[in-house]
Amino acid sequence: MRSIITLTDLRSARLLSTGRVGLVPTMGYLHEGHLSLVRRAREECDHVVVSIFVNPTQFGPREDLSNYPRDLDRDLSLLEPLGVDLIWMPTAEIMYPPGFQTWVDVETITQPLEGTSRPGHFRGVTTVVAKLFNAVQPHSAYFGQKDAQQAAVIRQMTRDLNFPVEIVICPIVRESDGLAMSSRNVYLDPEQRKAATVLSRALQAAKEAYEEGERDADKIRGKMKEVLASEPLANVQYVSCADYDTLKELNTVTGKALLSMAVFIGKTRLIDNIVLE
Ligand code: PAJ
Repeated sequence: MRSIITLTDLRSARLLSTGRVGLVPTMGYLHEGHLSLVRRAREECDHVVVSIFVNPTQFGPREDLSNYPRDLDRDLSLLEPLGVDLIWMPTAEIMYPPGFQTWVDVETITQPLEGTSRPGHFRGVTTVVAKLFNAVQPHSAYFGQKDAQQAAVIRQMTRDLNFPVEIVICPIVRESDGLAMSSRNVYLDPEQRKAATVLSRALQAAKEAYEEGERDADKIRGKMKEVLASEPLANVQYVSCADYDTLKELNTVTGKALLSMAVFIGKTRLIDNIVLE
């Protein structure tokens, strides 16, 4: 496993790689969710590249960029046994040199949900992912369903800009009590950590209502809100029952739907989702 920083070193390493190249983009502080993407890439590809870059352009001015958790040594020790070939950890100056002024902006599906709460967030994500695709030139790239809207936005960008990259979306990895794994979970104190299970409990309750025949989207959203309201530490930002492809809010669930939510537990903003097929 080789760790490199500069674009020149990345290009030389890429020229030497043979067979199918898989890329797993991350912001580090790795957990089992990230590692599940790496394992999938390892199964499907000859050469696995993991990028670690806390991308400043996807954080809002009041978000947690400066104290986003980082532990590079730990990340490298988690990746080593998985048979990763290359780690690329560029600096912010390498990704955004002085005078940088070109952005990738997916217009419509970036607007609802996370887009409303985090203006500019997806412009930062699509720009950095486009740059990672151009630099690494992978055959396939691995993302998690945990960030469902991000996955949809990246699929759209890849189609629209003709990136010759297969986008692979991997299932959400959860703790044993249902909490979706996230680098941000370390911000939760023990009491908040317990309260945080309310997100997956609310999704499960809505899924059960759907399985019992409920198709009224307002009632499904209501079910999630009801469970979230039972947790005093939860401060709901949005609850959604939307079309899986367009992310438009539904009146009635007829096809594939995405149930999703963003909830503050204390100062920590958590997201989670589930797909109704
Ligand atoms: P980050 O939050 O580090 O996540 C990297 C990848 O891991 C994303 O595709 C995310 O969906 C996936 N992931 C996170 N938690 C997961 C879980 N519990 N189960 C399965 N997959 C999970 O997402 C980003 O970084 C950035 O926006 C990035 C795409 C790297 C661009 O900067």
